[in-house]
Amino acid sequence: MADIESLLKEKRLFAPTREFAKNAYWSPRQVAESRKLAAKSPTRFWARMAKEHVSWFRPWKKVLDWKPPYAQWFVGGKLNVSYNCLDRHLEGPNAWRRNKAAIIWEGEPGDTRVITYGQLHREVCQFANVLKSLGVTKGDRVAIYLPMIPEAAVAMLACARIGATHGVVFGGFSAESLHDRIVDAGARVVVTADGGYRRGAATALKPAVDEAVADADCVEHVVVVRRTGEPTHMTVGRDHWWHERMAGASATCPPAKLDAEHPLFILYTSGTTGKPKGILHTTGGYLTHVAATTQVVFDLRDDDVYWCTADVGWVTGHSYVVYGPLACGATTLMYEGVPTHPAPDRWWSLIERWGVSVLYTAPTAIRAFVRLGEEHPKRHDLSSLRLLGSVGEPINPEAWMWYHRVIGGKRCPIVDTWWQTETGGIMISPLPSSTPTRPGSATQPFPGIDATILDETGREPKPPAGGFLAIRKPWPGMLRGIWGDKQRYEETYWSKWKNIYFPGDGAHRDERGYFWIMGRIDDVMNVSGHRIGTMEVESAIVAHEKVAEAAVVGRPDDLTGTAIVAFVTPRSGFEPDRALASSIRDEVTRHIGPIAKPADVRFTDALPKTRSGKIMRRLLRDIAAGKTEMGDTTTLEDYSVLARLRESEEP
Ligand code: WT7
Repeated sequence: MADIESLLKEKRLFAPTREFAKNAYWSPRQVAESRKLAAKSPTRFWARMAKEHVSWFRPWKKVLDWKPPYAQWFVGGKLNVSYNCLDRHLEGPNAWRRNKAAIIWEGEPGDTRVITYGQLHREVCQFANVLKSLGVTKGDRVAIYLPMIPEAAVAMLACARIGATHGVVFGGFSAESLHDRIVDAGARVVVTADGGYRRGAATALKPAVDEAVADADCVEHVVVVRRTGEPTHMTVGRDHWWHERMAGASATCPPAKLDAEHPLFILYTSGTTGKPKGILHTTGGYLTHVAATTQVVFDLRDDDVYWCTADVGWVTGHSYVVYGPLACGATTLMYEGVPTHPAPDRWWSLIERWGVSVLYTAPTAIRAFVRLGEEHPKRHDLSSLRLLGSVGEPINPEAWMWYHRVIGGKRCPIVDTWWQTETGGIMISPLPSSTPTRPGSATQPFPGIDATILDETGREPKPPAGGFLAIRKPWPGMLRGIWGDKQRYEETYWSKWKNIYFPGDGAHRDERGYFWIMGRIDDVMNVSGHRIGTMEVESAIVAHEKVAEAAVVGRPDDLTGTAIVAFVTPRSGFEPDRALASSIRDEVTRHIGPIAKPADVRFTDALPKTRSGKIMRRLLRDIAAGKTEMGDTTTLEDYSVLARLRESEEP
């Protein structure tokens, strides 16, 4: 509560400059008109977006078919996402884009590639033919497990071209996570690389794939990009080198005319159980949502160099590195490595050298740069920047101000964008020509998005007030389901209130009606802008042979937003020592990946439980955060546990 109060004391307002407003893609007048139209008829507004931002082979018959909680958008319409991201920039009035850079890529060692729209089109067509030659047809699933190299975008677009559904798995996930996702999606082909570069070293990826597919019967082929050139084991008949297959592939591949509701991708995200959810997105509505928001929120123009720093393994990488910017015909920058290699100024050097004009990144990165000191950005000419964005977690006003002052030179509007894997695209965000911004607030819903806050019973409190974030009407980019789990879809998102979407976040609205997102209210932690389920980490820890019981909670952390704290009870006879703590971390890395490694491992001989045996996480959260005042403990079974827990510490 104290955090919320201090946030809400933030009264600074930053109005858009006259110059920005004058030149914006959406002028203040267009913003006002859009809001008016969208308020009157969200479907008419979205239909307009679908016409303006997407090319269709066949127009839709009906904008929205809403049978709660299942929506179909642009029913009867036919289109192709890869056509929208490529072909249409090579023909008609946009044909000049053939030699415009679609992707500017920089590898961590400093190697670079600039891929024009014409070249990207060729590569995508070729790889689509490679997939076909491996037997992939419309509706098949293809898993993509790659570092941040252009082939990731090529593989995604090639799937989209032939109507295969891709499932990108973040390259930092473990073999086991990859295995689970491959099997859940039933992928026939896996696209990977020998490895990638991180922190100055080549890290292998292919061994994880070998382990992941060893007992995944669905997988028939593995395509391997040669990135590092390290020795790589290839299984004859199953594994194929990307470059060898591409060499013989035709560059002619007509885009499949797909139904607006054809599945485009599945992307896994953590929930409150141990099993990640395969979030399903489809074609027409998703593309409309991401293309329109990319153009309008980032104010994208043909001469921009746009850089979204997310990895393609996350939804931000799907919507705002690949599909949104390419649909807009923009130049999108991809960088392979860590932000601080070989020196803490790598990002600022990238911005200066490529003339980046729009930068979209996460608060955790900004906070890390604040710590490193302003001398690093100050050494570079960042005057090409004209707009900044933030996503993934609440941005604290201090980080916002630093971003504004040190990176934006006080001249760039900041768009703090709230959305989720499930929403497909941006839902709440300032519009840069029109919305006065307040540090820490995502401000207002995008036109056509009916966001509000509600209480447990579905009542809408009058701002200023707090409550659960809620979306009352369907929107085009919304998830269409959880892959293979109808019931979980209905329960997770649609059971709190009737026919209203529940995102799982708490929020406040201030006296202007602005939204202040307060973070997850369920058992999901947001670590560096990535969702990790407490249950997922717990099941990884209890898989350790020396662990009897574990409870995982988040605690506030200056850098990562939330840090993972594990309370662990060893099996009797095992010493709670440093070696055990470190092998528990290894266990988590093995099952999930290094991103889920607990920051603190605290041993305890007992966990606080209710009389019915439920672990009282609320108390654990307080203890993890170092609080000494405990809330209500009346249902606690054994009071002495508390004192012992408070004293527990990392050995
Ligand atoms: C969760 C979604 C959307 C891409 C990155 C994360 C939190 C996201 C903001 C923001 C406050 C934010 C929410 C949300 N979140 N953006 N601008 N301000 N919180 O995608 O992994 O699906 O996580 O991230 O808690 O529910 P994700």
